[in-house]
Amino acid sequence: MGLKNRLAKMVIDPSFRNPGLLRTIFAIDSAVGLDFVKALAPMKLMPASSELFMRCFAHFTSGEIISLEASTTMAAFAPDRASQTYLLKQADEERTHLEHFRHKLGQFGLDPERLDGFVSHAFRGFGTTIRAAQQREDFVGGLIGNNIVVEGLAIRLLEDGCKDLRANSDEISAFLDFVLEDERHHVRFGQRRLLWMQERGMVHVAAATDMYGRMWEHVEGAVREIPDVLDAMGVRGDELLANCKRYYREQFAVAGLEAIAA
Ligand SMILES: [Fe+2]
Ligand SMILES: [Fe+2]
Repeated sequence: MGLKNRLAKMVIDPSFRNPGLLRTIFAIDSAVGLDFVKALAPMKLMPASSELFMRCFAHFTSGEIISLEASTTMAAFAPDRASQTYLLKQADEERTHLEHFRHKLGQFGLDPERLDGFVSHAFRGFGTTIRAAQQREDFVGGLIGNNIVVEGLAIRLLEDGCKDLRANSDEISAFLDFVLEDERHHVRFGQRRLLWMQERGMVHVAAATDMYGRMWEHVEGAVREIPDVLDAMGVRGDELLANCKRYYREQFAVAGLEAIAA
């Protein structure tokens, strides 16, 4: 490990295990307007300001809220018992992720209630489009919107990004891996369920393609709207888009629905 990362590890790891240090820094930051967090940013110790820190958390948290709402609602109109059972289990896991993110933020002295104000327009669009699919009880649309696109984006961000944070904190690394493993299961459920429905002629390909197209517009919108958040995670927008597109195509290919993301 390089000197920079060793130094960062000395600050970040204890901060996440015992958040008093970051809490103090954030408190000074907001009380006197001196951006201490920013002063540490060139060393990649953390995002460049407490506001950016909030915005990073806001987008992970909003993803969890969308997935919690989607899995809970979809369980109520699932076409089979196995899907319903799985979605209720997924909802439980999303609730755990959400509570953990909120708890961590609270430990840093930052108000989880303020997070909503930092969420980008495109992320809100994810929720709106998925909610519309749920209102028309479009199960395939819900799977594509939440289990493939939103959860797939989370996987790409967790796998491709957060490398500095992972290097600098064992606790963050363990938490991200814990979330990541759940999200991989959630995408796999979406992929397997789409295959199951496709084999039974339950997928209306034109409607599914339309749903994916709208979700993809939000992915592109998110990359345009939160370049600083992506930068703080060590992710380049164009690479993220290319990786997401490839990842979504792989999921649809497994489900025998290549045409959706052609
Ligand atoms: Fe989650
Ligand atoms: Fe999930």
